[in-house]
Amino acid sequence: VVSAGPTLEDIDDVRFIGNRSSGRMGYAVAGEAARRGARVVLVSGPTALDVPPGVEMVRVRSALEMHEAVRVAAADADIVVMAAAVADYMPQTRVDGKIEKTPGPLELRLVRTPDILLELGKARGTGVRPVLIGFAAESGDAEARGREKLTRKGVDLMVANDISRSDAGFDSEMNAATLISTAGSEAFPLGPKTALAGAILDRAEALLQPSRQ
Ligand code: CTP
Repeated sequence: VVSAGPTLEDIDDVRFIGNRSSGRMGYAVAGEAARRGARVVLVSGPTALDVPPGVEMVRVRSALEMHEAVRVAAADADIVVMAAAVADYMPQTRVDGKIEKTPGPLELRLVRTPDILLELGKARGTGVRPVLIGFAAESGDAEARGREKLTRKGVDLMVANDISRSDAGFDSEMNAATLISTAGSEAFPLGPKTALAGAILDRAEALLQPSRQ
């Protein structure tokens, strides 16, 4: 199961809160996993990308929809890769129709969305399936912050991207990342997202091995 793209959180019938994720990283992982022979469910927020060959698509819009779709698909999955940029907050209420402007400021109250990856980590507990892989978009100390998330969310591998680079990340075909696991950290130098997808899946397959015996 791979999640990808942004989630969009509706304010009213016309406006939403979104983010700059293009979906490219998740689509690259899904496409490469299918190429390697996996049955792949790609849970995708709105993107402009083509469906990778051999991948089963589940299209969603909001964090709540992604939460439900991933929960269902992950139930019998061997590997879950959460590459989606899931919104951390959504408007507390969605207004029917269109909010009309007034001369003064507009206040919008945002509430937290469910943390899908954290929930998957908690549900797995001390078990080994599914293998859980998360992404972290960091602008400071990517490794330290990524490692904190690895432990807190109970996942096997965190892919920490440095979003402060201008030559990688959002809307780019390229990415540079640090792959963080309990075994240690590895730098993945600037390269195509398809190559990073392969490196992530190599590690995911290796993590699957012990539980196969
Ligand atoms: N994630 C999730 N559900 C959320 C938010 C995030 O499953 N509601 C997943 C993302 O798909 C990603 C990882 O958790 O794999 C990102 O973790 P997060 O703590 O949200 O990191 P950032 O958003 O990068 O950083 P910050 O803590 O600064 O918000």
